[in-house]
Amino acid sequence: MRTNQPKTTYLKDYRVPDFLVDHVDLRFELYEDGARVHSTLSMRRNPESVDSRGALELDGDSLKLESVALDGDALDTAQYEDLGDLLVIADVPDAFELQVVTWIEPHNNTRLEGLYKSSGMFCTQCEAEGFRCITFFPDRPDVMARFRTRIEADKSSYPILLSNGNDIERGDLADGRHFVTWEDPFPKPCYLFALVAGDLVEKRDNFSTISGRDIDLRMYVEPRNSEKCEHAMDSLKRSMRWDEEVYGREYDLDIFMIVAVDDFNMGAMENKGLNIFNSSCVLASQETATDLAFQRIEAIVAHEYFHNWSGNRVTCRDWFQLSLKEGFTVFRDSQFSSDMGSPTVKRIEDVTLLRTAQFAEDGGPMAHPVRPASYMEISNFYTLTIYEKGAEVVRMIHTLLGPELFRKGSDLYFERHDGQAVTTDDFVKAMEDASGRDLSQFRLWYEQAGTPVLNISDRYDEQAGTYNLTVEQAIPDTPGQEDKRPQHIPFALGLLDGSGNDMPLKMADGDDDAPAERVLELTETSHTFEFNDVSERPVPSLLRQFSAPVRVTYPWTREQLQFLMSHDSDGFNRWDAGQRLAVDVISSLVGAPDKAEIEPRLVAAYRHLMSDPSLDQALVAKMLQLPSEAYLIELADSPDVQAIHRARERVLTHLAISLREDLLACYRRIDCTGVYELTPVAIAGRSLRNTALAWLLHIDDEEGRDLAVNQFREADNMTDRMGALRALVNSGFAADRDQVLEAFYQQFSDDPQVVEQWFSVQSSSPATGGLDQIRQLMAHEAFDWKNPNKVRSVIGVFAGQNLATFHAADGSGYRFLADQVSRLDDSNPQIAARLVTPLTRWKKFAPVHGDQMKAALEQIRDKQGLSRDVYEVVHKSLA
Ligand code: ARG
Ligand code: ZN
Repeated sequence: MRTNQPKTTYLKDYRVPDFLVDHVDLRFELYEDGARVHSTLSMRRNPESVDSRGALELDGDSLKLESVALDGDALDTAQYEDLGDLLVIADVPDAFELQVVTWIEPHNNTRLEGLYKSSGMFCTQCEAEGFRCITFFPDRPDVMARFRTRIEADKSSYPILLSNGNDIERGDLADGRHFVTWEDPFPKPCYLFALVAGDLVEKRDNFSTISGRDIDLRMYVEPRNSEKCEHAMDSLKRSMRWDEEVYGREYDLDIFMIVAVDDFNMGAMENKGLNIFNSSCVLASQETATDLAFQRIEAIVAHEYFHNWSGNRVTCRDWFQLSLKEGFTVFRDSQFSSDMGSPTVKRIEDVTLLRTAQFAEDGGPMAHPVRPASYMEISNFYTLTIYEKGAEVVRMIHTLLGPELFRKGSDLYFERHDGQAVTTDDFVKAMEDASGRDLSQFRLWYEQAGTPVLNISDRYDEQAGTYNLTVEQAIPDTPGQEDKRPQHIPFALGLLDGSGNDMPLKMADGDDDAPAERVLELTETSHTFEFNDVSERPVPSLLRQFSAPVRVTYPWTREQLQFLMSHDSDGFNRWDAGQRLAVDVISSLVGAPDKAEIEPRLVAAYRHLMSDPSLDQALVAKMLQLPSEAYLIELADSPDVQAIHRARERVLTHLAISLREDLLACYRRIDCTGVYELTPVAIAGRSLRNTALAWLLHIDDEEGRDLAVNQFREADNMTDRMGALRALVNSGFAADRDQVLEAFYQQFSDDPQVVEQWFSVQSSSPATGGLDQIRQLMAHEAFDWKNPNKVRSVIGVFAGQNLATFHAADGSGYRFLADQVSRLDDSNPQIAARLVTPLTRWKKFAPVHGDQMKAALEQIRDKQGLSRDVYEVVHKSLA
């Protein structure tokens, strides 16, 4: 544990590695009390290195070094230096073989980085810098080597032994032990190394690639999960096909494996040929997973699979380039999900996450560019900015180039850089070279942090028949970055006439068929666009499809918003108009007297949505979701959370009372008696019914209560069971609530993925008793400090979703979170650093919150022996 300030790594200091590794030979002896790792590295000096005589330095972390040998000769301790985080050998030839033996303790590894144990099995997580917890190695992504891995373990406890590539040899050893040797023909950085050993069941399937190669697909899970693999396997096959069809990418090894582990810091990991998943991101059955979980699993399976090309075949030169693989791969998985379901709904979901959470990150003390310039702890940079904003940046290139040129660009990128470790700039260059477009200004999206703001105004000249739209862009200052240059922004728009039809967009640029939609390109601080032959004052539909990750301000009237809600030909903007209307109504009630009138247009608009079955039900289901408290807070200046919470609750109550009959009718209209299906229509039906239920129970409606209790009992799927449970938990029907919570736990107590949901539904609810309730959940038999999913589902969900309780006026929520962060930091710094996030935003809030949030951060800062992870977040937030 460090007490000094951790050191900062800068992009500008990048140098090519001094040594390269051609081949890695690993032998793992796995035991209950530890593991011995024999590593043989075939190394040579890098001809491109400027330092042609320097010492060899290998990274290490928490290793017990047993021996070092150079070209077969054992070195004595005078010939090397073990600095703990570095093994230094001053005198090495130009090419050599280095043998290192280390002893590690996976069963004591609570950080879940490197090799660790999770419910009896051994598994690894090496990205970003976990491999150095296994053995000494140049742990950086631009060192790519071929790996051969032999695993030895007790045969009865660990019948399954897995690593990357193909299994080339297996056999029995003395004392009931056995071994398997794996060989990966593709050079890879060590962060893609993986090992699994356990008593797992194997599910097999296969896939025939476009060129006719037969791939063995295997899933490995604990026996109790053997009925929860089908969805992931199907998703995998769909992903493999899709990547062939849409990107021309074929799978390259003969085997593709997926493993589920219960204890995992993140969602999943794309290790070459051996993807390892958090159980909650891969296991599903109708009875145990909600529709949302099914969709999430499909997306994550696809994401990890797509990394095989965007990440593994072409990888990152250094960790500043993380978005090269993550932004691109998130873009690819969202295109995939969009193709598998409803594109508009997928876009709404992506934008909701972006605007709620990424915009907040971009406006806070941890704001950083898509390609950061420095970091203390790279684990802290697996962020919404790297992933989601990074995906938006790729999406904008797609919009600017169009699908054909974009595909040409991605083909060129994969062809040019196959087998290399490259930069985001290489990616953009490939797009430029393939399309002939100049993206030099566009590159600012990678360099400048902060969310651009577009301030828009317009003028209609009836006499001249012209419509002028003025767009001004401004990019706010962020830590360490001021006075930014204007960015290159694709801005899609349409203009609606009085009957709601798209008007032809005639501009001076030509007299060919005027399109109904255009993508304008903003490159300057201010532009004025003129449209001609405009016969009446239009209602503008701005930033269609959310064509850029920016904030838009325009003086819409509520009447215009209601109009766009029902007429815009762009489904995304129909939804967005509804959100803007609701935000406007709720915001105007913040701090207003209790009897202030609530906009009747909102009720009318929602009634229309609910009662017209001819509307796209998937879109309607989304439109009926009120903006979240988190989003309202994000939009507000100096938010008072309690006031926002009350205003939103008031609107919800008013809507539910006014629409009671419509809600009941809507609930009854939707037939959910058929077989469970995962189609957009079926998902929308369940979502609508459960929204209706939630609203009815929000006003403690007796009839609604009976419907909910009945639905809870009869449900044949988790979406409906959870919908009913959630509605009851958030209602005032305390007796029913306690009863269903108890029944639910009794039924599912032996299923960790369901227990996590049971925790979340309670920890997210302000109705169930506040902080005491959270403490009770933490004292529950199923809570486990060592399991990140449990910590997230109770503490993370509390601080991130139960905002009225977290932001209690007395600061108790903040102090509570600080206590938990401090406690967790000793065992799992990565998760501890994530949990701090809500406190980091203290400057944004009204002083009633901000001062006490700051005090909670100081409380964490003053703890002795803070990890580098938490240190970085806390110190940057207080700066
Ligand atoms: N590459 C993984 C993914 O995109 C995430 C790995 C995260 N690892 C970490 N140490 N934060 O799915
Ligand atoms: Zn990823």
